[in-house]
Amino acid sequence: MLEKFERYPLTFGPTPIEKLDSLTEHLGGAVELYAKREDCNSGLAFGGNKLRKLEYIVPDAIASGADTLVSIGGVQSNHTRLVAATAAKIGMKCRLVQESWVPHEDAVYDRVGNILLSRVMGADVELVDKGFDIGIRESWENALQDVKDKGGKPYAIPAGASVHKYGGLGFVGFAEEVRTQEEDLGFKFDYIVVCTVTGSTHAGMLVGFAKDGREQNVIGIDASCTPKQTKAQVLDIAQKTAELVELDKEITEDDVILHEDYAYPVYGVPSEETKEAIRTCARLEGMMTDPVYEGKSMQGMMDLVQKGYFPKGSKVLYAHLGGVPAINGYGYTFRNG
Ligand SMILES: Cc1ncc(COP(=O)(O)O)c(C=O)c1O
Repeated sequence: MLEKFERYPLTFGPTPIEKLDSLTEHLGGAVELYAKREDCNSGLAFGGNKLRKLEYIVPDAIASGADTLVSIGGVQSNHTRLVAATAAKIGMKCRLVQESWVPHEDAVYDRVGNILLSRVMGADVELVDKGFDIGIRESWENALQDVKDKGGKPYAIPAGASVHKYGGLGFVGFAEEVRTQEEDLGFKFDYIVVCTVTGSTHAGMLVGFAKDGREQNVIGIDASCTPKQTKAQVLDIAQKTAELVELDKEITEDDVILHEDYAYPVYGVPSEETKEAIRTCARLEGMMTDPVYEGKSMQGMMDLVQKGYFPKGSKVLYAHLGGVPAINGYGYTFRNG
């Protein structure tokens, strides 16, 4: 589906799929759980889902003649960390706007984890006191202008690399890769569970899995806590991406399945249930998830299994999208494990 698009490799190649035997057993054994390890996809600053997206954006950035990648996220954004790593790798400068998206007050929140890594990789990091919003932000537009005013040539990458013309392509590739891996495994996954916030991960998967009729088998777990906006953004990106890859069917609102029950109390703040899901997964599988994204999708998947949402005998693939560095900003939350 992606042959006509240029790709700049930032990842190791196909990510491993592993069976989560202990978690499967813990949840009763009626549904088989697997994880596709996007969290281990690259040597660039701990990797994660943004790199698949950036692989299709970098050729456009290079072709534009830009010298600075400019992006935005929360203080503990994984996305901005990976834009910083990508800029370092391709020899560009990096300007990052980090907004106060999370009402979280760990004393070292703006000194550890993702933001620490971005600073070490040489990004110019600006902290802006503005709340959560997945849309286009004035602070980001100001940063783009500031780079220009100082004689630089910026290349704009929006939050989560989502609302970018090529933002959905990387996860179309994810679906293609899963199809190839399914041939070796000798079975197909019945459901794919994905954490959704800015939307292009979910949207790309929808388009990729639509090729073999599985668009409604992609189960999004909202972690934005603004699900209406997230759902609309997934649909919009999926429709634009479908057009771009010349998918021979339409993606409609019914195809966007987004569970809204796990993002509480608010974006970036883990509930007691999210914390418990993080501990359970860590203690049974040694697989770390974070309090902002994957902890919430892990909680959602576990809860849906327990509620019988997936028919008996289903094989469920959890897309582990990365994000663990942010847990360093939650040292007090997990002070007792
Ligand atoms: C670790 C992690 N999981 C999930 C997501 C959600 O992906 P998307 O923003 O493409 O919906 C993100 C980024 O926002 C992330 O960093």
